[in-house]
Formats: sequence, structure tokens, C-alpha cells
Amino acid sequence: MSETNPARRVILITGATSGIGRAAAFALAKKGAHVIIHGRDEVKTDQLRREIIVACGHLQVDTIVADLFLLTEVRKMADHINERYKNLDVLINNAGGLMGTEREETPEGHEKTVALNLFAPFLLTELLLEKLKKSNDGRIINVSSVAHKHLAKPDFYDIENKKNYSVSKAYGDAKLFLILISQKLSRDLRTAGITNVTVNTLHPGLVASNFLGGSGLSSWVKFISKISVPFSKTSAQGAATIIYLATSNEVRGVSGKYFDNSRPVKVSARYNAVENENLVRDYCEKVAVSLLQNDPDK
Ligand SMILES: NC(=O)c1ccc[n+]([C@@H]2O[C@H](COP(=O)([O-])OP(=O)(O)OC[C@H]3O[C@@H](n4cnc5c(N)ncnc54)[C@H](OP(=O)(O)O)[C@@H]3O)[C@@H](O)[C@H]2O)c1
Repeated sequence: MSETNPARRVILITGATSGIGRAAAFALAKKGAHVIIHGRDEVKTDQLRREIIVACGHLQVDTIVADLFLLTEVRKMADHINERYKNLDVLINNAGGLMGTEREETPEGHEKTVALNLFAPFLLTELLLEKLKKSNDGRIINVSSVAHKHLAKPDFYDIENKKNYSVSKAYGDAKLFLILISQKLSRDLRTAGITNVTVNTLHPGLVASNFLGGSGLSSWVKFISKISVPFSKTSAQGAATIIYLATSNEVRGVSGKYFDNSRPVKVSARYNAVENENLVRDYCEKVAVSLLQNDPDK
């Protein structure tokens, strides 16, 4: 695989403290990239930084802590990155996961699955876009899932599943919505003549990570995840497509695609329509505007 020179690249990865994100952070740092690892727990994130430094043999490993359930924290995180770093070449929106069997809201009043898997990557991307545009090869990589195909049953007028919640539907919907807004952003950038920033999504595969054993999951889901472990990928294998999209020259300039096993594959056609992209994007914008208007720190 021909690679961009990772040694000169600044790469921010969310959800680096566990599973796929952790494996990707180690691999990218070992390739010489300047990695900014995001976590929600300061102690865990600092510990990870120390481990990565030992493994990669350089000190270009920084940390950032934010609870991505909260858009105010996403905004603060983006402010910090914009102030502290001159360049940002790759943004990997990896943090995500399934929530509990009961619908729950964040303290900001948003359904948790959508807050973490959709609103956080949406807002972080929006707020870091100008910085990415300064890169000669800016890449936005959004970790979605094949669940967009098998579990999504979206109501585009009830994005936060107020009327009809289940763990699997909320997760499948959120991963579908992430693909839709990524495709839209990719097209909007092209329309605006911006060709140095690409946006792609991916399915990492079924990976035996914390994701499959979350405490909020039903015992049935836990049972299925336990018996599927022998057929699952390791976190390192799950990170392979992220690393490919972040570093390979083969995907330089490639945008608006959905990848699996480092190959572009088709998004489920069922809900894949420009009209749906617009509905999701408009909703995300409305949520972000309302946050920024009510943010006491702004
Ligand atoms: N595993 C799979 O089979 C699979 C399949 C398809 C897609 N995916 C997607 O792949 C991505 C990575 O998943 P994974 O399997 O590596 O899961 P994981 O082991 O559970 O890791 C998830 C990461 O997200 C972080 N995170 C969760 N909630 C957060 C919050 N509120 N604020 C900030 N960070 C938060 C976690 O932090 P902590 O370490 O503090 O918990 C962790 O670093 C997710 O987007 C997931 O949906 C996974």
C-alpha cells in the first residue's frame, strides 16, 4: 500500500481509549503520525498516551478529554484543537456505540445514541472544517457500521426516536444518518470547489471490543456477542480500514464513499436519497444552532 507521509500528519481520533480507536491510535503513532488521542476519562487517556509513546518511540502524542454525549464539550474540544494546533490533516470520528434498552437522554436533552454517534461527529467536523481545509490532503473519516443496512428503520421526522425507541433501531438509524450527512458534506465540498478535503465512512467489521459487552445491553445481545467472539475480528483488524483511509495514497481525493475491508462498497439503497440527507443535515444544524445560542460560554 502506497502511503502519504504519515510522519508529517496531524491526526485526531475520538474514542481512542478502547477497542478499534485504541488499536488505530497505536498503529498511526507507530507510523510516525502526530496523534491527538481523545478520551472521556483523563486518567485513562493519560495512561494510554504513556503506553503509545513507549510503543511508538516519539513524543508527538497529545491528549484531549471530552464527554461526547454533550455538545458543549464537543464545542470546547474543537475550540481547544483550533487554538492549539496550526494544522489538522485527519479527523477520525470513531467514538460511538450502542446504548441501553430504555431510551435515555443526555443532560442537554438529546437521545444518547444519536448524541454520541451523530451529533458529536457532525458538530466536531463542522467546527474543525476550516482547519482541515488548510491541509493539502485533509481527510474526514466517520466510523459507521453495516448496522445501517440491517438495523435502521428511520423516521426522518423523528430522528431522536421519541416515538419508537429500541437499542438496535437507534443504533442502526444513527449509523445510517452518519453516512447520509457524510455523503452530503462530501458533495457540498465538491460543489464549493474544495477538493483537498475528503469525507468517507466505513464499517470496521464485527470486532470483539467493549462495544459488544456494554452494560446497557440486554442479556440476549450479550449472549449473541459472546458466542460471536470466535468469528469476530481483533481490534487491530477492525482498525485496518481506518488506517487505510487515513494513510493510503490510493484514497487521496476519493470522497463520499463507504468502505468495508479497505474497499468501497455500496451503501444500502433503501434510505439513500438526497432528500433524506437534507432532512438529517437540517436536523443536525438545528441542534447545533440551538446549542451555540444557549451556550453560556459563548
Ligand atoms: N465493535 C464492532 O463490532 C463494531 C461494528 C461496527 C461499528 N463499530 C463502531 O466502531 C466504533 C468503535 O467501537 P469499538 O468497537 O472500538 O467500541 P468500544 O471498545 O466500546 O470503544 C468506544 C470508544 O468510544 C468512547 N466513548 C463512548 N462513549 C463516549 C462518550 N460519551 N464520550 C466520549 N467517548 C465515548 C469509549 O470511551 P471509554 O473507553 O471511556 O469507554 C471508547 O474509547 C464505534 O463508532 C462503533 O459504533 C463497532
